[in-house]
Amino acid sequence: MESSSGNVLWFTGLSGSGKTTTAQHIYKQLADAGRPVELLDGDEIRSAICKGLGFSREDRLENIRRIAYVANLLSKHGILVLVSAITPYREMRKYLRSYITGYVEIYVHCSLEVCEARDVKGLYAKARRQEITMFTGISDAYEEPDQADIVIDTEQNSVHANVNRIMQWINQNAQEV
Ligand code: PPS
Ligand code: MG
Repeated sequence: MESSSGNVLWFTGLSGSGKTTTAQHIYKQLADAGRPVELLDGDEIRSAICKGLGFSREDRLENIRRIAYVANLLSKHGILVLVSAITPYREMRKYLRSYITGYVEIYVHCSLEVCEARDVKGLYAKARRQEITMFTGISDAYEEPDQADIVIDTEQNSVHANVNRIMQWINQNAQEV
């Protein structure tokens, strides 16, 4: 099945940029309103159906391919799907745009400096000490989106403001199935 009928809101951005937090807030608002919604988070999926995949280019592509497959299945049944995954390469996002009907790319923008200063999970420090290799932004690329449908800035704006902005988009544009 190559097409879907709902929307898939795909949050891309650096580790620590706020993808998960923003998507969780949106999820809660929609779920509380009784709207069918699902959230697929890269970090979580990696311990479920993507166990065994690492962070090489090839593994990341496979990770994204599997998430996209599930997102498409859910979306086909009218579920609004939120995905939060770094999705660092243009090639991946180009694939997503062609594979997923109703694909909406949300670039969660936050500078590397601020993500590193936040270092919520201590991963940037580990990456700097080379205890983690191929870490996005440090030892592996994050190719900035140039075709994002929505750009939010978590450095300048509050979670609340960003969530409101996306909720407004959903209320005005999301496909009802
Ligand atoms: S990807 O590139 O889209 O396949 O990545 P994703 O599935 O979103 O997984 C990112 C989370 O994995 C943790 N982690 C790493 N991220 C980037 N690079 C390296 N090397 C790495 N190793 C572990 C990290 O917790 C990411 O979660 P977020 O929520 O982005 O911080
Ligand atoms: Mg996360």
